[in-house]
Amino acid sequence: MQKIGVFDSGIGGLTVLKDLMRLLPGVDMVYLGDSARLPYGTKSSKTIVRYSLQCARFLVSKGIDMLVVACNTASAHSIAALKDEFHIPVVGVIATGAAAAAATGAATVGVIGTSSTIRSGAYEKALLDLKPGLKVVSAACPLFVPLVEEGWFDDRITEQVAARYLAGMRAQEIEALLLGCTHYPLLKGLLGRVMGDTVTIVDSAYYTALAVKELFGEQPACHKGGDVVYYLTDLNPRFVELGEIFLGHEMTHVYEVDLGV
Ligand code: DGL
Repeated sequence: MQKIGVFDSGIGGLTVLKDLMRLLPGVDMVYLGDSARLPYGTKSSKTIVRYSLQCARFLVSKGIDMLVVACNTASAHSIAALKDEFHIPVVGVIATGAAAAAATGAATVGVIGTSSTIRSGAYEKALLDLKPGLKVVSAACPLFVPLVEEGWFDDRITEQVAARYLAGMRAQEIEALLLGCTHYPLLKGLLGRVMGDTVTIVDSAYYTALAVKELFGEQPACHKGGDVVYYLTDLNPRFVELGEIFLGHEMTHVYEVDLGV
């Protein structure tokens, strides 16, 4: 019996958990959302690493066999520190998202994410390691997270904000757009409209779940769904409401946890 631990700065990482539950239906999962301290996307590297290690220690104390860092900002800054401290497989969204974007064959790739993710240059580095000649255009889109949390997935205002953030990418004729934030899969339709049909949208959440499935290998046919338990560091009812939108179904077994830090 194996157990996967997934953490994020809040409820956004449920986009990754949702795909994991679909691809590995019989596997037990523990999700931790650090909702008391979000957003991570505006914080310094040092703070993000500290928070990530604290989240991972909690999940490891729950007996997980694999750690999935669903948060792009945490992945961008903390993967090396996490791999150093923990001796279980650690999967982040950066390497898997970059590999999927590189595999599209696009000559120019756009990367969008939080300010901290873009500032880290992690996606750009991962893409250039895979394809040294690639042209990468990056843009921080900090307003997308609050707009998604407001539920404005398909709203005129969100479309105007997207058109403004992505104007540079349109001018540079990117061929693939890498969604480097947990919240952006909910804007997929809108971003597709703003960028046009010629741009392939790459969702790092989905490719991360796929990479985890590959690591797990063939699973025996299961007749019972795996147990999924959710922990939030702040159990504001709004997080559960939003979480259910991200997840597409009800969240049961939700507990508040004090990381004691
Ligand atoms: N989960 C974060 C990410 O994927 C977005 C929200 C935040 O800034 O904490 O980068």
